[in-house]
Amino acid sequence: MISADLTGKRTIVTGGASGLGLAAVRKFAEMGSTVAMVDLDGDRLHDSASTLTDEGFDVFSAPTDLRDGDIARATVTDAADRMGGIDHLVNIAGHPVTLTYIPPEDLDSQTEELWHEMLSVNMLSAFRTSHAAAPFLKASKGAIVNTASMAGWRGGGSSSPYSVAKGAVITLTKELARGLAPDVRVNAISPSYVHPESTNFPLKWDSVFEDSRSLPLGRPGRGEEYADACLFLCAGASYITGQTIHVDGGWSA
Ligand SMILES: NC(=O)c1ccc[n+]([C@@H]2O[C@H](COP(=O)([O-])OP(=O)(O)OC[C@H]3O[C@@H](n4cnc5c(N)ncnc54)[C@H](O)[C@@H]3O)[C@@H](O)[C@H]2O)c1
Repeated sequence: MISADLTGKRTIVTGGASGLGLAAVRKFAEMGSTVAMVDLDGDRLHDSASTLTDEGFDVFSAPTDLRDGDIARATVTDAADRMGGIDHLVNIAGHPVTLTYIPPEDLDSQTEELWHEMLSVNMLSAFRTSHAAAPFLKASKGAIVNTASMAGWRGGGSSSPYSVAKGAVITLTKELARGLAPDVRVNAISPSYVHPESTNFPLKWDSVFEDSRSLPLGRPGRGEEYADACLFLCAGASYITGQTIHVDGGWSA
């Protein structure tokens, strides 16, 4: 577990209602940052934000749908107005969209609609929020963290469009790093297996422990371990930009 003094800092976390996003919200709030929790799931967002405010943390909920560019940008601008700026943007929102596995040989199931939805939720969402946050982050010399996946490196995700979207996040991270330099650093984390208690991702949890046994570290990662990596990339890592960091128990080793 790492720590940093984020007193007076202002952070936006997308996907903040649950899973890795919620773990990041808690981590940044514990370090003293104000945190805007952005998510599609209004009920869960409300419950998660209430729990944290009851514990004394300075967080607030910002329900939105990041599939809509105008709404996504307005959400970021509103949060910046409320906080007086932005120091960190942590893009964690994502979804497999299809609730059943689509094998790569099943091209018929990879419809135009699915491709558009997948890219919108898992990659364009991060561009939209980054675009809106860019002037605020330039002013604060802040940082962005995106969320890729092991599927983005090797394929083999829940569907080909999901894998491609996550691969695009890796490239988007490099492009944003070039585009926003030198004021704003842009990096990504690449998770492998996530402990079932740290996610609401609709996947087959029964295989997570078995699958992760083959990793060098032999277990799935916990939300706080992914959040630690986000904190390092935002609050430390002053000479790192454009990188996607494997937070994967050694999957890529
Ligand atoms: N859980 C895993 O096994 C795993 C593995 C690798 C990568 N990832 C990635 O990690 C990230 C977090 O996943 P998680 O495990 O915490 O899942 P999760 O489902 O617990 O959290 C994702 C959050 O994103 C939100 N979201 C989805 N669509 C949205 C939209 N259109 N607008 C705003 N918010 C939206 C959801 O409501 C949810 O709260 C995702 O990007 C996912 O692709 C997850």
